[in-house]
Amino acid sequence: MSTDSFWTYFFEIYEAMPRQGPGDRESTERALGMIPALTAESRLLDVGCGSGTQTLDLARACPAHIVAVDKHPAFVAQLVERAAAQGLGGRVEARVGDMGALACPDRSFDAIWSEGAIFILGFGRGLAEWRRLLAPGGHLVVSEFCWLKPDPPAELMEMFLEGCPEPADWAARRAAVAEQGYELVGDFVLPARSWWENYYAPLAGSMERFRKAHAGQPEALAVADRCQREIDLARKYEGYFGYVFFVMKRGADGDR
Ligand SMILES: C[S@@+](CC[C@H](N)C(=O)[O-])C[C@H]1O[C@@H](n2cnc3c(N)ncnc32)[C@H](O)[C@@H]1O
Repeated sequence: MSTDSFWTYFFEIYEAMPRQGPGDRESTERALGMIPALTAESRLLDVGCGSGTQTLDLARACPAHIVAVDKHPAFVAQLVERAAAQGLGGRVEARVGDMGALACPDRSFDAIWSEGAIFILGFGRGLAEWRRLLAPGGHLVVSEFCWLKPDPPAELMEMFLEGCPEPADWAARRAAVAEQGYELVGDFVLPARSWWENYYAPLAGSMERFRKAHAGQPEALAVADRCQREIDLARKYEGYFGYVFFVMKRGADGDR
């Protein structure tokens, strides 16, 4: 299967979901509560926003101006529509953009947010590259994959290595936070319902509709099989991995 076909089918499955990764409003608000209160003058950047469920949760929870960036235009269009429908269009500025080449001035954000997306660049690289965008004393908040038990099974490791360039345990992530010049304000694991109710259940529903729409099309069905494999392995090895929210403050060395 060509890479283009894979992504076309993949996005068809994910565009029909309210969020594209594990998460929940309570955890977003909990992490937001760990940074100093944002005001109407504050600027927040949401990187890899998807169709923007956490963007809208943030917009309802604080008065900041939010710039939300995603590479996939259909997700950005969905966010624009959802923000307008909720009366938040004036404060949520959704843009198509590449997280590895963000065209924003240095120190232009009081907070940078990224739920389930920093793995695309790699945790260390994301921390290093986004740092310049933060105002001194600004905060970076990300949720990121972590192994939560030692010695993960080989089949689980193999599956996550396909998508996540550097699966690591919680301690290694904390070490990277310090190495990249951030102070760790706090961190916590996303609860199981963020995965099962908010992510895997909608994924299973979307895949069922996708399978019906693409019956007899082996390439399309192979993409659904790949998604199903993740759900099956997550059930088989529940507790071995999770997403951890890391709430970080940009260190004082302003010229890094
Ligand atoms: C796992 S999803 C998370 C989406 C959203 N934050 C959520 O939790 O629902 C990762 C997102 O990153 C986006 N993405 C992938 N590569 C990107 C890039 N280079 N620049 C910006 N966004 C990217 C994808 O389109 C997708 O929306």
